Amino acid sequence: MKSIIALAFLCLASWVHGAQDWSLTLDDAQMAKAAGLFEQNCALCHGADRSGYAADHAPSLKSPQLLSTGFPSHLFTAIGYGRKGTAMAAYSEEMGGPLAREDINLLTRWLLQVEGIEPLKLPGDAVEGDAVAGAQTYSALCANCHGDQGQGVYAPAIGDQSLLANASDAFLKYALEHGRDGTPMGSYSKLLGEKGVNNVVAYLRSQASGWAPEPVKLRAPPTPDQYVLNPEGDDPEFTVRVEFQEKRYKTDGLYEGRYVPAAEVVKALEEKKRFILLDTRPASAWQRSHIPGAVPMPYYRDKDRANDLQLPDPSEGVMIVAYCACPHAASDYVINNLRALGYPTELTAVIDEGILVWTAMGLPVVAGEKLVAAGN
Ligand code: HEC
Ligand code: HEC
Repeated sequence: MKSIIALAFLCLASWVHGAQDWSLTLDDAQMAKAAGLFEQNCALCHGADRSGYAADHAPSLKSPQLLSTGFPSHLFTAIGYGRKGTAMAAYSEEMGGPLAREDINLLTRWLLQVEGIEPLKLPGDAVEGDAVAGAQTYSALCANCHGDQGQGVYAPAIGDQSLLANASDAFLKYALEHGRDGTPMGSYSKLLGEKGVNNVVAYLRSQASGWAPEPVKLRAPPTPDQYVLNPEGDDPEFTVRVEFQEKRYKTDGLYEGRYVPAAEVVKALEEKKRFILLDTRPASAWQRSHIPGAVPMPYYRDKDRANDLQLPDPSEGVMIVAYCACPHAASDYVINNLRALGYPTELTAVIDEGILVWTAMGLPVVAGEKLVAAGN
């Protein structure tokens, strides 16, 4: 197993490094372009100032510890390929996302240059430690933030295979020893000592099972004549929940009712009601799996172009229900834009739970051309 992982790591390293320019000397035009890409695609969750936690518990992208040790491959692959099972979707075109390889390269370099951080050269050797002792430390000290299986949610999913494939032992050790400035991740040097830290790193490494980027076969999205589900059906009647949120994408403080329980949406699908489902995540996430019949309408499309998808005119009275990952940032943003374009409150809603919870509840999703069990 170790050799397979080492091989995957090598292939990945040559794939990331091959023919790419990783110099940190972006000129003003490149800096401006990268800032624009960040604002359009990333600020929603990571915050306009990159300090993280604007939505979906997205981590900071400005801590010197992440930037100096994550450059370039950890950052580049996270952006290009995302982290499965989390709100971090893949942004590369080959995965169905919006960004060309050069754009991801530019963003990766910009993240360091804008903070004035220099990359650190970490040792390449494997860290030796006692994985069994490390597992105990993990359950006692780390599981309440990172999840008992490293599945994350409030803190990054450090059991995720793409993360483990890209994070060297030294990268993990550095994060544990130095923490991450400006975030809930503290330093464990004093508490655990070097031996204790090595044990936890050995435990995390023992959870890796190998990963390689898998380009997907991209599917064509539905055409406008296919948007409305059950065009002959009755209109659905949803119970909406109102919520007050202080968010950067807030329009008016108190949100009008907009949150519909997932169970009612499933019922409306089963009862063949007439409505439109919008998947507002990056299109790569729609490619991987989506709720049956959902139309991809990623949040990063220009606001003013919100309706170049040719949704039916509001006068046709078709209900529009949006969803994203966990649970509201992107879908709220898209629904606000549609409301600004004249789609009325009573015809626009958001699935309260998001698709991650939807899948965890065992509700149906489509992957590939066929219907599969939840969780894939
Ligand atoms: C109080 C909650 C909390 C605890 C406890 C905690 N962490 Fe973290 N950890 C975080 C957060 C939040 C981040 C992301 C910080 C950021 O924004 O960069 C993080 C980041 C990390 C990272 C970097 C992951 C990446 O994707 O770059 C590693 C590795 C890590 N933690 C390991 C551990 C281990 C091992 C323990 C236990 C010894 C632990 N953490 C305890 C909250 C926590
Ligand atoms: C919908 C919310 C969302 C959006 C939009 C988003 N991210 Fe993330 N991002 C996350 C979350 C959540 C994580 C942590 C995933 C995990 O558990 O490992 C993350 C992780 C990352 C990481 C890994 C950080 C680490 O500590 O290891 C990088 C790098 C990153 N995102 C960059 C970006 C960039 C660049 C963009 C825009 C192109 C972007 N993200 C857009 C939610 C988002």
